[in-house]
Amino acid sequence: MLGTYKIVYILTWFTISSIWWPTVKTKRFCFSVTENSDFYYILHNVIKFKVDLLLIDIHALDAILESSSDLNQYDAKSLTFAIRDSTAEQLKKLLDKSASRKVFNVTYSSSAKTNLTDIDHIFIEYNQKIIQICVLHEQKFYYLIRENIEYTPNGWTLTFGDTVRAIDRTETQIMKNEMNNIQYFYPKNISHFLWLYGTSKFLECNTELASIMENKYKLYQNDSQLNLTVIPMRGIGKGLDDLEKHYWLAGGTLLGWYRHCGLIPFTQDADFGLYAEEYSEDIRNYFLGNKISYLWGALGLINDSLEFRLYTGRFTLDLFWAYKENNSRWCGYQVHRTKFRRKLPLLPELCSGDLFGYRFSVPCDPIEYLNTEYGINKWNAPLEKGYSWINMKLHSYWTDLAWLYATRLYTREGKLRTDKFAIDWISKFYNYTIKTIPTFLNAIPDNPPPLGPLKKNLEYNTPVPKKKPKNTTIFLQKRKIILT
Ligand SMILES: *[C@@H]1O[C@H](CO)[C@@H](O)[C@H](O)[C@H]1NC(C)=O
Ligand SMILES: *[C@@H]1O[C@H](CO)[C@@H](O)[C@H](O)[C@H]1NC(C)=O
Ligand SMILES: *[C@@H]1O[C@H](CO)[C@@H](O)[C@H](O)[C@H]1NC(C)=O
Ligand SMILES: *[C@@H]1O[C@H](CO)[C@@H](O)[C@H](O)[C@H]1NC(C)=O
Ligand SMILES: *[C@@H]1O[C@H](CO)[C@@H](O)[C@H](O)[C@H]1NC(C)=O
Ligand SMILES: *[C@@H]1O[C@H](CO)[C@@H](O)[C@H](O)[C@H]1NC(C)=O
Ligand SMILES: *[C@@H]1O[C@H](CO)[C@@H](O)[C@H](O)[C@H]1NC(C)=O
Ligand SMILES: *[C@@H]1O[C@H](CO)[C@@H](O)[C@H](O)[C@H]1NC(C)=O
Ligand SMILES: *[C@@H]1O[C@H](CO)[C@@H](O)[C@H](O)[C@H]1NC(C)=O
Repeated sequence: MLGTYKIVYILTWFTISSIWWPTVKTKRFCFSVTENSDFYYILHNVIKFKVDLLLIDIHALDAILESSSDLNQYDAKSLTFAIRDSTAEQLKKLLDKSASRKVFNVTYSSSAKTNLTDIDHIFIEYNQKIIQICVLHEQKFYYLIRENIEYTPNGWTLTFGDTVRAIDRTETQIMKNEMNNIQYFYPKNISHFLWLYGTSKFLECNTELASIMENKYKLYQNDSQLNLTVIPMRGIGKGLDDLEKHYWLAGGTLLGWYRHCGLIPFTQDADFGLYAEEYSEDIRNYFLGNKISYLWGALGLINDSLEFRLYTGRFTLDLFWAYKENNSRWCGYQVHRTKFRRKLPLLPELCSGDLFGYRFSVPCDPIEYLNTEYGINKWNAPLEKGYSWINMKLHSYWTDLAWLYATRLYTREGKLRTDKFAIDWISKFYNYTIKTIPTFLNAIPDNPPPLGPLKKNLEYNTPVPKKKPKNTTIFLQKRKIILT
């Protein structure tokens, strides 16, 4: 190991193509390529063409996180880098011309068979070491790495090119080895890059259904609706990504993405699902007083039916936490003291999809998810009016004790509402008199205070009907009352 000092520049590789501001930071950084090694030989021959390589190799980045190491000592057959799509064709020309081409085995993969200059991957093999260069195909706000269809890896598994993957724009640092002049870039926040990789598998929406929606049903995307929705949705997706909390487009939002490749026209809200086991108060804090979509209501208990309702001033966005039980999940939906439950698939992993040019996380099997939510194949035609949501089952009612803790209302500025409005709102569905709202989260404390005096007129003085209401639409409609 050479143990040399390397200069680390900080720059945004993905957003700024040629300008950088060097020597922001000097750092002892020992992830190097030893001179005269096989990797060095290949890299040297690529980098001499002045190509900016971004190290995206999952195993190598893992190794960097674990401990600094030498790319050669790091026991690998392959190393994976990425380049911008604008440089791929030029690199191919230079590689083809280069004398060193003769000693390499170079394979190009292109899924656009008719256009051989539209390269997806370049594999350069030398002495049984392979450098894979993935082309980042620029989308509106992220990049796609396409599937490799040409090269058969022998003795190693592709982590990029195995399937189509979406890569968010990321800040990068440049790694420069002064001694042998090898330099490449790597993601500045390696652990976050690796975290995002977990959901990077890219799925297309159903373009065939989407055109049926327009041509047969005359359901067109609505620009002003999109304008109201896209920024808040992106804010939520990005915010949760930054907190490293998994989410997925849920309910009608997922249906809109899959069936319309957009939004369901006239939709009133956007739904996001989250894993209950990943809940943390960071999420509440992120949305309290959020400038774009603020948390106005946190309903349920953290361990039961938790929902966050967000509002932009014009548009509602809901976060539903999905609780694992046996081999599936459920999430709650509350209308006052009534608790409904929706069954969801287990969702062991999540994928990526494109909505309005942004990357959002989606269930990896959207069809299974939509079948669970709406009934098998009941969702591929627009829903009739008055459709009752089959996946909404009455579960139970909040007890008096739990109810006091199951509703938190917040102001736009992110303060707990303790005003008359909030007291009335909670009292209305409560058997006991409430004078003030204590500052607690959506959890019952170990030693809860006494409930207070009973009200004269109990809201629930008659036994709650055990029968499941036949028409859940009426309950769903009530939800708007909460907002006003
Ligand atoms: C082939 O792809 C290249 C690079 O993406 C592009 O510039 C060119 O216009 C394409 N040619 C055709 C015929 O599609
Ligand atoms: C290129 O591939 C051939 C056939 O697989 C192999 O014999 C040769 O050693 C390879 N050359 C290099 C430089 O890896
Ligand atoms: C939506 O936003 C875009 C970009 O800001 C704007 O050009 C367009 O006119 C807006 N459309 C509507 C219907 O508001
Ligand atoms: C488009 O969306 C806006 C905002 O949600 C709504 O007011 C309008 O009625 C919609 N237009 C059509 C044609 O659906
Ligand atoms: C990397 O990203 C994670 C998630 O956004 C964040 O918590 C962490 O502070 C970041 N680390 C650095 C060094 O920026
Ligand atoms: C999970 O399994 C238990 C025991 O078999 C059963 O009582 C319970 O109803 C199941 N839960 C769900 C959501 O299916
Ligand atoms: C459910 O109730 C709503 C609102 O009262 C009504 O419009 C709809 O027709 C009802 N649906 C069914 C299936 O009864
Ligand atoms: C949630 O926690 C409360 C105590 O805070 C407990 O009484 C209740 O049974 C729990 N609910 C679930 C669904 O686990
Ligand atoms: C309070 O409300 C509940 C409804 O959840 C009801 O079952 C109960 O009988 C009511 N009365 C008292 C005295 O708690």
